[in-house]
Amino acid sequence: MRAVTVRSPAKINLALSVGPPWADGFHPLATVYQAVALYDDVTATPRADGEFTVEVRGDLADAVPVDESNLALRAARLLASRHDVTAGADLVIRKTIPVAGGMAGGSTDAAAALVACARAWGLGLGAADLTGLAAELGSDVPFCLIGHTALGSGRGEQVTEVLTRGSFQWVFAVSDEGLPTPEVYRELDRLRERKRIRALAPSVPPTLLSALLSGDPSALAVALSNDLQDAALALRPELGDTLRYGLDHGALAALVSGSGPTCLFLAPDAQAGVDLAVELASSGLCRTVRQAEGPVPGARVLG
Ligand code: C5P
Repeated sequence: MRAVTVRSPAKINLALSVGPPWADGFHPLATVYQAVALYDDVTATPRADGEFTVEVRGDLADAVPVDESNLALRAARLLASRHDVTAGADLVIRKTIPVAGGMAGGSTDAAAALVACARAWGLGLGAADLTGLAAELGSDVPFCLIGHTALGSGRGEQVTEVLTRGSFQWVFAVSDEGLPTPEVYRELDRLRERKRIRALAPSVPPTLLSALLSGDPSALAVALSNDLQDAALALRPELGDTLRYGLDHGALAALVSGSGPTCLFLAPDAQAGVDLAVELASSGLCRTVRQAEGPVPGARVLG
């Protein structure tokens, strides 16, 4: 048994179509995920005494809980209990993914912890063996294991890889304060009720899949969509200014990322992405700006 470090990516939703809520409060989704090159690293060091600890490092560390609600810790405990592991683990999370930003930061830490602990404890399990546990931990966790670009259905936990060509250049405007995902889904239900909009069964636009196959960012720009965007904007109207600012400064498309509040911009190429990032950084509209390409692989062992 030895220490293992796993690097796991942030995700964005290129389409996020949300149906009417089920009785358990979750919503049926049809989504297209893409993993992007912003990463958290999780190191698992096995402990013979069966205890578990978690520590979070980096600028964003203060915003992440280190109690039993920590998703990486829950992942490690779940894996141990289902595989009769008597060892424990010390987990260290090095965060660079925005916290509560709609980019699956917590989910990807859980995916990384599953892979790291499975390896550290010598369980001989691959990503495919971990998807069931991943789905129990959160709707986005199975996708974080496989990465690249994938269709998500059910709660988002059923994933099938999608073919894409080349890579796309993304810029992210990160807000000062996160938005809790359940609140954004509830706001969507409220908005639909108020406007008497009957939510249909969720579906992904076929134009999105052909744009991904073509590798053409202009085609992708017109095919992006997010049903949660209006709800996120209702809760944080100022995000509308951020989206408009990006469109006025070279973005082909602007979208709220997942449940927000991170705003997502598609740049025509890498240089335009740098220019847009510089403009956004000086706009005073967001706390931090990040730039990353996608797609990239899911959780992988660094050593
Ligand atoms: O699955 P996960 O724990 O990431 O979901 C976080 C929250 O987002 C859920 O508690 C629920 O409020 C909302 N959600 C939803 N429908 C989904 C996925 C998430 O309502 N398909």
